Amino acid sequence: MSTTPVSPMRAQGVDTTMPVVLEARGLVKRFGALAATDDVSIQVVDGEIHGLIGPNGAGKSTLIHLLSGGLRPDSGHLLLDGTDITRLPAYRRVAAGLSRSFQITNTFRELSVMDNLLLAVQACAGSSFRFWQPRNAETALHDHARELARQCALDDALLAQPAGTLPHGEQRKLEFALTLASSPRILLLDEPMAGMGPDETRRLTELIDSMRGRFSMLLVEHDMQAVFRLADRVSVLVAGRIIASGTPDEIRANPAVIQAYLGDEGITPDAGGSHDS
Ligand SMILES: Nc1ncnc2c1ncn2[C@@H]1O[C@H](COP(=O)(O)OP(=O)(O)OP(=O)(O)O)[C@@H](O)[C@H]1O
Ligand SMILES: [Mg+2]
Repeated sequence: MSTTPVSPMRAQGVDTTMPVVLEARGLVKRFGALAATDDVSIQVVDGEIHGLIGPNGAGKSTLIHLLSGGLRPDSGHLLLDGTDITRLPAYRRVAAGLSRSFQITNTFRELSVMDNLLLAVQACAGSSFRFWQPRNAETALHDHARELARQCALDDALLAQPAGTLPHGEQRKLEFALTLASSPRILLLDEPMAGMGPDETRRLTELIDSMRGRFSMLLVEHDMQAVFRLADRVSVLVAGRIIASGTPDEIRANPAVIQAYLGDEGITPDAGGSHDS
């Protein structure tokens, strides 16, 4: 277990002296001559929602793939709870508590919402139901699946529907519920609000907010209102490099960040993205 504290800084709603859950040290990923991530170091502490923002092509998704194990870094290290997982394959990272959500492949579109949940619960429970009476095990699986649906505000009436027929916002809730089945230590979210209308974005923001403290989250998002409302801290990636990390207020007021990114998004120290509203 790591007990390495991050440097103390004024934080809104998160204690940055908490243990570091996920740490990247000097991650480099090159595609030919392009360094998509160029010596990226970042720390996510226990229970925080850490926003990751930056212009198109900055390297945010590349970093998420490096963290989740879809891509291997050319150099650098990755630690989960202080253990080096740089060489761990993606599926073993999930088992260790490092989950990624909002990948289309998460759901079986032809299966009902309930069957999707049951499969996820059963897969994540592994052999722990082995010693139960079959009927008790089935009841426990159903109870767990229903509980995940409830936590993610999935309506009971939707449970029998094929997952592929759910409206966009409800599919996102289902994907979230499937991810919760693995009891993550940290969840990586790459643009969860993409393609959503204002109402769906608001509901998903509330759902993410309701999970605050249960596990850490690294949230990549272009919706600045959502990021600045949700994040305890924000890191800014520009051209493969982290140019700033800090509280939402610190990031909003950072001249280099305004010049490189937030100015174009219409976010200034006085406008947009209130953290507490
Ligand atoms: N598999 C790949 N092969 C070659 N170049 C790639 C590959 N994946 C990403 N890139 C390049 O790496 C850079 C970073 O891309 P990435 O998708 O990580 O950016 P991003 O910050 O997620 O952008 P966006 O906000 O548009 O999602 C871009 O220049 C992109 O074209
Ligand atoms: Mg991206």
